[in-house]
Amino acid sequence: MKKVLIIKKIHESGIKLLDNRKDFSYEVVENLETNFLINKLQDCDAVSLKTSKLGANLINAANKLKIISRHGIGCDNVDLEAVKKKKIILSITTNANATTVAEHVFFMMLSISRGTDTYDKNVKEGKFLNRNNLELSKELSNKNILIAGFGRVGKNLIKKCIGFDMNIFVYDPFVDEKTIDNLGGKKVDNLQNTIKEMDYISLHMPLTDKTKNLINMKVLSSMKNSSIIINSSRGGLINETDLNEALNKSMIFGAGLDVFEEEPPNPNNPLLKNKKVLLSPHAATFTEECKERMSKETIQNIIDFFENKLDKSKIIKL
Ligand SMILES: NC(=O)c1ccc[n+]([C@@H]2O[C@H](COP(=O)([O-])OP(=O)(O)OC[C@H]3O[C@@H](n4cnc5c(N)ncnc54)[C@H](O)[C@@H]3O)[C@@H](O)[C@H]2O)c1
Repeated sequence: MKKVLIIKKIHESGIKLLDNRKDFSYEVVENLETNFLINKLQDCDAVSLKTSKLGANLINAANKLKIISRHGIGCDNVDLEAVKKKKIILSITTNANATTVAEHVFFMMLSISRGTDTYDKNVKEGKFLNRNNLELSKELSNKNILIAGFGRVGKNLIKKCIGFDMNIFVYDPFVDEKTIDNLGGKKVDNLQNTIKEMDYISLHMPLTDKTKNLINMKVLSSMKNSSIIINSSRGGLINETDLNEALNKSMIFGAGLDVFEEEPPNPNNPLLKNKKVLLSPHAATFTEECKERMSKETIQNIIDFFENKLDKSKIIKL
């Protein structure tokens, strides 16, 4: 009997996969206190992990642990060195959330471009006729978009951009021209040069030493005054101080942020009060459908691992 420790509740659809099995038992825990978790981890074979931290102290206490199944994609909450040392498998839910994040990008691009907040506010406040005094909004059709980072989310986003008749440019040094061309985009090699021509920029790359502060004042100051930038990837890709200044000086038109350098953001972060920014609380995957898919995939990855059929693409190379 394999024991699965589910750290923080997941959608019931994943749990049901275990209810149907005689060879697995499970326990769902909400308590994240170190001593409590150390005790629980000692005899479990698998862990389902959301965004809570799994540090070396916890991993080293898990003597039977064979697999950590991340409910999501990013693994910044797991001590990778400890996982590697103990030869534990770390899996992610590769099939669950790309379309959901791409939809969120569209929601942000459309909302900022069409000024939906202002429309809604005016009608609700009885200022319907104010419509003639409002600034005209923007269309996505026939506009240039740069998709920076062309992995699962970027590749899903391009399909939606094609549906909106956008001109699509892709910046990803690790994806070849043919792949991008076949999917309807044009590969670009120089971010700084391309960005000058873009109406929309959407970021879909990981946060690394190389990508940290990729969007800084130098880049922002080359962008069109009418351009809009969206970050649903990781905080830290955009320098928030520079972004705030660029918005205040109307160097760009607007920004949509689902992720922040610090989460939750510091209440004094000026972006929280900036009217030119649309914010969401790292919620790009927060749909009923996505949570169901993520939950099922998290548990299925554990079952597949013990049945020796876990797809290699779901395992993080350490
Ligand atoms: N907001 C959310 O809730 C949410 C949900 C899912 C994913 N994400 C984040 O979105 C990002 C993309 O996710 P994904 O599933 O598409 O990841 P992915 O690993 O499939 O794709 C990442 C892409 O970035 C490219 N890349 C790496 N370094 C680059 C660089 N320096 N310049 C340009 N491109 C570079 C890689 O070649 C790869 O194609 C990740 O950071 C992930 O953590 C956020």
